[in-house]
Amino acid sequence: MLNYQEIIETIASDLKGVKDKGTVASYIPELSKIDPNKFGIHLVDAHMNRFSAGDAEELFSIQSISKVLSLAKCFALVGDSIWQRINVEPSGDPFNHLALLEFENGIPRNPLINAGAIVVADILVSNLENPKAQFLDFIRQITNDDSIAFNEKVADSEKKTGYHNIAAANLLKSYGNLKNDVDEVLDFYFHQCAIEMNCRQLANAFYLFMNHGKCQSGKTHLNINQVKRINALMLTCGFYDEAGDFAFEVGLPGKSGVGGGIAAVLPDKFAVVTWSPGLNRKGNSKLGMQALEKLTTKTSQSIF
Ligand code: DON
Repeated sequence: MLNYQEIIETIASDLKGVKDKGTVASYIPELSKIDPNKFGIHLVDAHMNRFSAGDAEELFSIQSISKVLSLAKCFALVGDSIWQRINVEPSGDPFNHLALLEFENGIPRNPLINAGAIVVADILVSNLENPKAQFLDFIRQITNDDSIAFNEKVADSEKKTGYHNIAAANLLKSYGNLKNDVDEVLDFYFHQCAIEMNCRQLANAFYLFMNHGKCQSGKTHLNINQVKRINALMLTCGFYDEAGDFAFEVGLPGKSGVGGGIAAVLPDKFAVVTWSPGLNRKGNSKLGMQALEKLTTKTSQSIF
């Protein structure tokens, strides 16, 4: 039997010695304060056995990883009508790129780039009475953890500097693909990105994507086909213009965030989260990608 604890401890200690840990995101000023030497990993298997190493209990900003959770909530609420407003193709472009959006008449390439996630946010704002509170409740429910919260300082920091997202939302609005007020949708989007979780909590949240839509308490949140689609989107679009490389090196559906987190799943086997704040040139956690490559190589497990 695989000894996950030994494997992730070896990975954590091997990566400690790596000199080039990447660069902490600074375009959201509040994120630039994070210590680049942090490293955490948590794996929860299908039977809810848990394995941790490093700073797995420390909170970090989940940023774009939240896009998978907002998509899940949105998909559960409105079903396949989402795909009238968002495509499902990889973009091959950075997460905040806008050129394709104009070429493709305001229909974002996929829900995991910023423009797509802003449309998902718009659908949630249209369909929830108290969007921020109800989205947070959803995350608390799937993790069975009421301590999870927004970091208002991070949300505020992005609101003050988020010109690219402000441009994206306005472009979407000009094409008729944003139904609500731009500021309201962006307030929701900046807050969903500013949710703080640790590796363990985030692995608990992603458990449902490896468990056919059922969270750890046994409640079904998504049907099997919806989970198939979300996992397919993570695999093809979760790392933007590095999605091919992540599939090639790691071989799991996953999602990164500029806070340095990566969440990934191996259906029926495990959900795993790494956190290392230094990013590579594509905006994905440098050591997180290396850790997950080591995990799937050492365990000879991947979706392939
Ligand atoms: O919208 C943004 O730019 C950030 N709130 C999230 C970007 C992000 O995490 C990209 N992922 N690697």
